[in-house]
Amino acid sequence: MPQADQLRTMDEAHVAAQLRMMDEAHVWHHLSRRGGRPPLMVRGQGLRLWDAEGREYLDASSGGVWCVNVGYGREEIAQAVYDQLKAMAYFSPSGGNAPAAELARRLLGLTTGLARVYYASSGSEATEKIIKILRLRSHLAGRPEKTTIIYRDRDYHGATYGAMSVSGQPERTAGFGPLLPGFRAVPHALCYRCSFGLSFSECELECVKAVERLILEEGPDRVAGAIFEPVTAGGGVIVPPPGYFSELAATLRKYETPLVVDEVVCGLGRTGVMFGHQQFGLQPDAVTMAKGLASAYMPISATAVSAALYEDLEKADDRLGYFRDISTFGGSAAAAAAALANLDVIDRENLLDNVRRQGQRLLEGLENLRDRPGVGDVRGLGLLAGVELVADKRTKTPLDEERVARVAGAMAEKGVLVGRTNRSLPGLNNVINLAPAYVATESDIDEILSALARTLDELGAGRI
Ligand SMILES: Cc1ncc(COP(=O)(O)O)c(C=O)c1O
Repeated sequence: MPQADQLRTMDEAHVAAQLRMMDEAHVWHHLSRRGGRPPLMVRGQGLRLWDAEGREYLDASSGGVWCVNVGYGREEIAQAVYDQLKAMAYFSPSGGNAPAAELARRLLGLTTGLARVYYASSGSEATEKIIKILRLRSHLAGRPEKTTIIYRDRDYHGATYGAMSVSGQPERTAGFGPLLPGFRAVPHALCYRCSFGLSFSECELECVKAVERLILEEGPDRVAGAIFEPVTAGGGVIVPPPGYFSELAATLRKYETPLVVDEVVCGLGRTGVMFGHQQFGLQPDAVTMAKGLASAYMPISATAVSAALYEDLEKADDRLGYFRDISTFGGSAAAAAAALANLDVIDRENLLDNVRRQGQRLLEGLENLRDRPGVGDVRGLGLLAGVELVADKRTKTPLDEERVARVAGAMAEKGVLVGRTNRSLPGLNNVINLAPAYVATESDIDEILSALARTLDELGAGRI
């Protein structure tokens, strides 16, 4: 190697070592136990990422938590943020700004039956907003006892106290109690591990009946709303069985219970249509969205509500009746500009078409891996897929979380980054998550599948 190249390499190795040292010494990483070696990424382009040491990866997780939906290195989004920061960096969300106004118009045009957009910066905040909206609505209607919100035991809606209290996944909430009162869980709709021990052919959607039973037990007059993920993401990639959501919506309508759909992961195209609830013909009263709204180039979230919900709050003549809530960075101008540019990319490149095409390739490829060691179940919709790993296929004994982590590690060693259920459900953190960016090509999908096939064989051979 020529001397100049040698010096550059030494220099880069030195910078990488410094970065690692600072990161490991000073940063408190999310959802990671001390002592591990968390990834430290420095550059991205498309689906490719490079870490501090210069190693290249195919990111099959869109940034680890399914959000860099249009891929890395998008000049047009960076440019939109830069232009907006120069033109006008900030004004309070109690007033307006140009990109936030345009974004609200576009988002409402992509949904049906929703009339207003309330901005914040994260999915958890979007959940907080809808909890506050639903409860304030009851108070303004003179029904302060109508506060209960229903959720499912494997859904996740965020990390703040309200959002945590309306989330399942007990390992996410363990030790943080007391949580807030007024939230009730119903069993999930995962046929592979039916909460009622039934098979789909005989169940008559017992999981929906459980929602009705809970409403009756609680008293319909006490229930303020219900929140669901269209396809449950971090709780194990769970696609609802046929008929589930239409029955569920009918049940909620029967008891005049507003339906909130959490589109934080599914929204903005992840399942192959703009919003996950559109896959199931749902008409929600409110929708939350975050992660992919600006493909994670900027933090922004939104809670979109129906005209009826909006009017219930804004028409009240109570002096404190209007929605007295603010988040300083909600709908901030540059974040909204990033979201608009993100929507432009999705449209211009016809990316939802690609999500459907590559999603089908991914799911078919995963189906072909069903016979491999450790594969208990394969689930997914669009470019959102999960492989549930088991130690015993017959008994469905879950593979333990440490080995699942090693499976993800073995994938990373092959240059493919995948997600996994992480400290979510006791004994059931056994799903490998795949959510590549919408720009994935056939060869990207094949690379992911090939790395997974080899890894499963290593699992079967006891090398993992
Ligand atoms: C379905 C869902 N809702 C809400 C959230 C919370 O979003 P955030 O982490 O932006 O607060 C998440 C985060 O993973 C999520 O997956």
